[in-house]
Amino acid sequence: MGTDLKALRLGQLRRGVVFLYGSEFADIDADRIGLSSGTTRASCASSAADYKPTAYVPTGAWRAPGERELALLRGEFGQDGNWVRVVRIPSNLLSEFEAVRRSIAEASSLSEARAAAVCPLSEIVLKRLATWTIDEGESLAGAGISVNLPGLPTVTDDQADGRFLGLHLDTWYHSAHQARSASPSRISINLGYENRYFLYANLCLADMQSALELTGNSRDVSSNQSPRSFYATFPRYPIVRLRVGPGEAYIAPTENISHDGSSMGQTRWDASFVIRGQFCANDWAE
Ligand SMILES: [Fe+2]
Repeated sequence: MGTDLKALRLGQLRRGVVFLYGSEFADIDADRIGLSSGTTRASCASSAADYKPTAYVPTGAWRAPGERELALLRGEFGQDGNWVRVVRIPSNLLSEFEAVRRSIAEASSLSEARAAAVCPLSEIVLKRLATWTIDEGESLAGAGISVNLPGLPTVTDDQADGRFLGLHLDTWYHSAHQARSASPSRISINLGYENRYFLYANLCLADMQSALELTGNSRDVSSNQSPRSFYATFPRYPIVRLRVGPGEAYIAPTENISHDGSSMGQTRWDASFVIRGQFCANDWAE
C-alpha cells in the first residue's frame, strides 16, 4: 500500500488502460508515444485566461517512455472501456473524405473551415464503420467533423463560454461512474495533413478512484470529479500523448478516461471526423 502510494506520488506509471497497436504497423515508431512530467492547474500555465478555472493540463516537455514504461502502457488484449488503439484508415475509406479534407485545408478562416466541415455523411463510411463495431453499427452515434485552431495544447472547449476544458471525461451517455467502462468508445480520424495528438491518462476512472483511496482521503472518490482530485493529489503522474498521423485514427473510451486532443505543432486547421460506437478491440478487416 505504502509503496503504491509512494510510486504514484513520484509519478511512476501503473498498469491500467492498455494501448493496442494494430498489426498494420510494423512496430512502434520512436515518437508515437510521449509522456508528460505530470499535470498542473491550467491557471498556473501560460494560457490560463482561455481555460476554465478548474481545468488541468499536462505539464513539462514531452519525453519518450522508457522500456519498462512502454511495457506498462502496451497490451495485447483490452477489457471493455480499458483500451486505446491507433489504426490506419484504409485508403478506399479515407478517399470518401477527400473532398471535405481539401475544402477544410483550403479555408482561409476558422469559420470558413468549420462551414466546410458541415457535410452529409457518406453511406459507404457508415457501412464500413458498422463492420468495426461489436453490434453491427447499432451503437454508432454523434458523427461529425470537428475543426480547431492549430497550436493548441488541448482543443476541447465548453461551447457555452468558449473556454477550454483541459483534461476531461466525455458525458454523452450520463452513465453512473461504475458503468462508464461499458459506454461506447469514440473513433477520431485525423482528416488534416499533419500530425495531431490524443492525450490521455492511462488510469481509468475506477483506477483513479482506487489510487485516491490509498491516501485515506476518499471524499471525492465516488464522484466523476475524481480525475481532478487525482491530478491534485498526484501532480507528477504522467499523461500519455499519442501521435495520430494524417489518415490515422485513435479509438478510445472517452467516457471512462480523462483525455483531450491536441493540435500542437500544426500549422493548418486541425480537422477530425468523430463518431461514437462499441468498437472492436481486435484487428479490423480491410
Ligand atoms: Fe472529450
